[in-house]
Amino acid sequence: MTTSRRDLFKTLAAGGALIAAAQGTTQALAQSATQPPSQGAPAAPPPDFGAPSSQERELKIVNVERLEDDARKILSPGRFAIMGPSGDGWTYRENRRAFNDFPIMPRRLQNVDDKDIDLSTTLLGHKLPLPVFTCPTGAQGNFHVKAELPNAAGTGMAGSLFVASGASNRPMEEIAQATTGPKWFQIYMNRDMELNRWLVQRAKAAGYSAIVLTADALGPGQSDDYIALGRPRDPALTAGNHDPALGGHGNFSDQKRNLSFSDITFLREASGLPVLVKGVVQPDDIRQSLAEGAAGIWVSNHGGRQMDGGPASISMLRAAVDAVGGRVPVVLDSGIRRGGDIFKALSLGATAVGIGRPALWGLIDGGSLGVKSVYAQLAFELKSTMLLSGVAKVTDLNRDNLAKA
Ligand SMILES: Cc1cc2nc3c(=O)[nH]c(=O)nc-3n(C[C@H](O)[C@H](O)[C@H](O)COP(=O)(O)O)c2cc1C
Repeated sequence: MTTSRRDLFKTLAAGGALIAAAQGTTQALAQSATQPPSQGAPAAPPPDFGAPSSQERELKIVNVERLEDDARKILSPGRFAIMGPSGDGWTYRENRRAFNDFPIMPRRLQNVDDKDIDLSTTLLGHKLPLPVFTCPTGAQGNFHVKAELPNAAGTGMAGSLFVASGASNRPMEEIAQATTGPKWFQIYMNRDMELNRWLVQRAKAAGYSAIVLTADALGPGQSDDYIALGRPRDPALTAGNHDPALGGHGNFSDQKRNLSFSDITFLREASGLPVLVKGVVQPDDIRQSLAEGAAGIWVSNHGGRQMDGGPASISMLRAAVDAVGGRVPVVLDSGIRRGGDIFKALSLGATAVGIGRPALWGLIDGGSLGVKSVYAQLAFELKSTMLLSGVAKVTDLNRDNLAKA
């Protein structure tokens, strides 16, 4: 961004115009464009939109998916519906069902003791105690009064990697301070390339070690339940990285939809950081991303929250891993709920997996301690699956550990 342009933004901000603009457009991008940008925010939240959670407690977890029921009780239907799937929810359901296509092949009498089991892995230089990290999810102020901060803190308590959404309600610098673990910054690109440059440079200065380019969310991704409720919004929420009161600027809602492979190079050069591409699933797209210098491939369909009708992430993983051919790490998200799911994804060649909604349910039900509890449960389940299938190290998992892969 040129100095004169920056000055212009500052002047506008001082006059309050940009504050209003930022508030009005927060959720257009903040929820992966769950709201068409043109709609503007209502003056006040609808009375039945309720309050976000203020929970802070450890959770006793039977299984992670059951946390969703508690989240539904804590939030109003409008807030809860923000997490819903798009369209008919086919891809959302397929994300779970397709794990059934890969039954685990247990080995017996392998002389593996539970104390031998090592769940740790290394992802782009970061040693993680568990091959799980927290996905970027926008506008967490809808879910918890402290927005992204407890999610980041809880992920850090688990020693894992937090990926901050570019569409956060808190500024990236505050989120960076909230976690003791490693962190990446996810960007929804803006049509203003100087604004993109400024965001990724800010991320680097704040201590983020990689940039994630989200490629699969180019417009409104709203559940039918959310649309049916009239797309309720909380105008008090700000776009954390753009709110002038918090040091930000720019037209947040002007999302660049015509993404191309050269954007990977742009982000690499602008930030000086490794760039992962999130949401690429087709082998040619993956090869082209690598040709532009992508440092990681993130197989995802946004948790079935964008295009409905596409394949499950786990169904695309094997081909993605083959296209990458070991040159960079491959990670996967969408539908991870159980230790067994993690086992399957790693057996197919992923280095680690991301959790989106499970971390949000932990946040809603228990704040930072809730998120930490989600990690503990997944670690417990993965360890148990490893023991019962006779594998000591997650880094040793391969396709022979699955029946049909
Ligand atoms: C409420 C919500 C908001 C999301 N916001 C973002 C976002 O800002 N940026 C992004 O790259 N992905 C976003 N995602 C997608 C997640 O990063 C992730 O791909 C997805 O949640 C994984 O599927 P899962 O929820 O089944 O674990 C969002 C997902 C949800 C549920």
